[in-house]
Amino acid sequence: MSTTHLGQIFHIAGRPRASAADDALVWLPDGALVIDDDGTITYCGPRDNRPVDATETIRDHGDAYLIPGFVDTHIHFPQTYSVDAYGGGQLLEWLDSCIFPAEARLAEPDFATRIARDFCARRVAAGTTAATVFGSAFPHAQDALFAETRRAGLRLVSGRGIQTVGGPSAEPLLTSERDAIELTAAEIERWHAADTGAPDTALLHSAIVPRFALSVTTETLANLGELYADVRDRGVYVHTHLNENNRPGDGEIDSVKKLFGVESYLDTYDGRFLPGSRVGGAGLLGRRTIMAHAVHCTDTELARMAETGTSIAHCPVSQLFLGSGTMPWQRTLAAGITVAAGSDVGAGDEWLISRVLSDAFKVHLSEPGDAGVAIHPAEMLFTGTLAGARALDMEDRFGNFDDGKEADFLVIEPDRWPPLEAILTQGIRADDDRTARDQTLFALLMGLREPAIAEVYVRGRRVQVSATA
Ligand code: GUN
Ligand code: ZN
Repeated sequence: MSTTHLGQIFHIAGRPRASAADDALVWLPDGALVIDDDGTITYCGPRDNRPVDATETIRDHGDAYLIPGFVDTHIHFPQTYSVDAYGGGQLLEWLDSCIFPAEARLAEPDFATRIARDFCARRVAAGTTAATVFGSAFPHAQDALFAETRRAGLRLVSGRGIQTVGGPSAEPLLTSERDAIELTAAEIERWHAADTGAPDTALLHSAIVPRFALSVTTETLANLGELYADVRDRGVYVHTHLNENNRPGDGEIDSVKKLFGVESYLDTYDGRFLPGSRVGGAGLLGRRTIMAHAVHCTDTELARMAETGTSIAHCPVSQLFLGSGTMPWQRTLAAGITVAAGSDVGAGDEWLISRVLSDAFKVHLSEPGDAGVAIHPAEMLFTGTLAGARALDMEDRFGNFDDGKEADFLVIEPDRWPPLEAILTQGIRADDDRTARDQTLFALLMGLREPAIAEVYVRGRRVQVSATA
């Protein structure tokens, strides 16, 4: 038995580099996506060429578009209600005045349950089928997040936010050095691959998540290095922030360098967190490590991330909101690093990954001189889908519609959002098919809003939640 979804299909086939996404773009105006009972894709192509199957169930979506589910590689679950939080100032003031107090509210179990439900509902509304989720400090809130995510049938990589040092407003989120490790290890035992028992088939995965270097001590970093060395082979992830705010003197990056006495911010996560960047323990970098932001990296830092397979969650909406600057697009990609999209809700005030891609397009076109670039629409789609799966080291499982992949996809019905329908049907298109195809994809990504996302599927199964945020 199989299910065949008919619609207009866009996806990025194969395993291209970002710069080759346009050649890998597949456009099937009369497409068919055939999925077996396990949720595995058995065919994606022109509908008339699909293999004959007398038992197939057909879902004809008419003029709707089918695209791979969005992957959000950096989003904060405890900040579900904190988008548009006005703190006055940049990152460190915003954390102190808005975010630490908001995250402290998750100490209350009923509130934690409610925010977990609303978080999952917002993910479904935005078509975010897979996500790296910055967690709460509180174990019961993480339990609520994992349980609700499992109920919904979404993919999740997450871990409790680890903080062992901070000012008065961070106080409710801090733990002792010992609890920081014990709670993190316990969460891994409880939730890593809890749904299937095997990381390579699971939807649920654990991560080690130090909030950022300023929230932990050298002792925490040494202990986390030891813990990661123990669990790395089980497919556990690492997720944190890097080089986000460079206000001179008292901004994040200068503060890290001063506090640890290190040559570069990345050294604190690379085991070289002692003064002079001396080695103090095992590092946290690797192919299942995702650094959020990486706006102000040195060439040495970029080379080290590339060497270790560490990926970047690029969060342009958040970078605008907090005045963090812009991750240099061409320079970062030229270093050979996987760059995927992150909403960074709540510093980012857009849940929808296509809105993140829209801001990426604008800020990178506005980079000075030769750095400025008009990102190709196929590269935008790649960044929001397949690159995310690659950053999560799960490119073999999802991210596009290649045969054998797990079927994560969105059904977009333009008539549910008339401004989108209008630009798709009335916009100017070039005479040549390839340019017209690119223009249609660009219109779809730029004009998409949540109401047009009619259906969301993970591994062939429709995802639905009851709560609304
Ligand atoms: N750095 C440390 N914590 C945070 C956070 O919650 N959001 C962002 N954008 N940066 C951070
Ligand atoms: Zn963040």
